[in-house]
Amino acid sequence: MDFPGNNSKMKSKVDPNARSKEDAERLVSAGRVDDDAAFELKLRPTRLNEFIGQTKVKELLAIALEAAKSRGEALDHVLLFGPPGLGKTTLATIIANELGVGFQQTSGPALQIQGDLTAILTNVRERQVLFLDEIHRLQPVLEEKLYTALEDYKLDIMIGQGPAARTHVMDIKPFTFVAATTRPGLLSSPLRSRFGILLRLEFYTDDELRFVVERSADVLGVPIDHDGAAEIAMRSRGTPRIANRLLRRVRDYAQVRAAGKIDRETACKALEMLEVDAHGFDELDRRLLRTIIEKYDGGPVGLNTLAAALAEEQDALEEVYEPFLIQIGFLDRTPRGRVATRLAYEHLGIEMPRKLSLF
Ligand SMILES: Nc1ncnc2c1ncn2[C@@H]1O[C@H](COP(=O)(O)OP(=O)(O)OP(=O)(O)O)[C@@H](O)[C@H]1O
Ligand SMILES: [Mg+2]
Repeated sequence: MDFPGNNSKMKSKVDPNARSKEDAERLVSAGRVDDDAAFELKLRPTRLNEFIGQTKVKELLAIALEAAKSRGEALDHVLLFGPPGLGKTTLATIIANELGVGFQQTSGPALQIQGDLTAILTNVRERQVLFLDEIHRLQPVLEEKLYTALEDYKLDIMIGQGPAARTHVMDIKPFTFVAATTRPGLLSSPLRSRFGILLRLEFYTDDELRFVVERSADVLGVPIDHDGAAEIAMRSRGTPRIANRLLRRVRDYAQVRAAGKIDRETACKALEMLEVDAHGFDELDRRLLRTIIEKYDGGPVGLNTLAAALAEEQDALEEVYEPFLIQIGFLDRTPRGRVATRLAYEHLGIEMPRKLSLF
């Protein structure tokens, strides 16, 4: 199995949420960019009833939380998965808040040697939440160590070295393991089977994102009307993180050009100036679709070829750029490669060759 944590992408050691340089400079990147962190902390919902959208996820979670609380037991282990910026980390903190227990956070790339994991597991407190972000980047040896910890709350510890080495089995406190990943397909099945609660986060609807924008504007004390919020929502690629970021930029524009208030006209002008189009596409999305259409006759084109043509990393393409383009029907992922759809041709104003339009 391919574990991206084992390859040379060590930048992720520094910040597990960091993306490629190009992506970090994108206004509509779903990944976290440098100055998002402090801002996100302020806007992050802390309770389940403040968390907008994801109805199914919230329902499943509410029942599981209620049941665990009434039994007085640790909640079953939870796996949160879905594209970046949809609220995985937020939900992990909400779980701890709702249970009224401690929260500790680490990430796959941050755990390098067995001792890192052992230190954390031997110190977990009863029923607390241990959050492991980017679990798909966890080293395979550490993953195996996790199995018994998650299943029986036991940890094998090696004492001594060479022929005198002994394994000692140590009990650890029952805790709730919450893991997040943007790439659930990379998890091994034994690991996946350790989770009792699997929660898939979906892209948000425009209406849900309008609520996100209105809530954030409220927290920040920014005056915004319904249409202004709807305009920002529409261009946020189904992603709350982007909605919050666009709000922040539109707020700056409104302060300087429109006496601080955000209405549809101000939002449109600000977003046009920022070159975020009606679908929330920026130059990179257009370049990706244009490359498939113009260089590869609309596809299919393999992921690595496409990545090389765009000078982007495969991981970033697959994790960050493609999911939304696929979701709104501009791109197809076929076994033979990526294909631009009719909508992509239309959006870019390129005529679809007849032989393709027959399909
Ligand atoms: N349902 C929601 N309601 C309101 N705000 C939300 C919601 N989901 C996410 N947000 C906002 O979006 C920001 C990004 O969410 P979060 O960091 O939880 O995403 P993530 O899925 O963990 O992303 P990554 O995969 O990059 O780690 C949060 O700070 C929060 O302000
Ligand atoms: Mg996160």
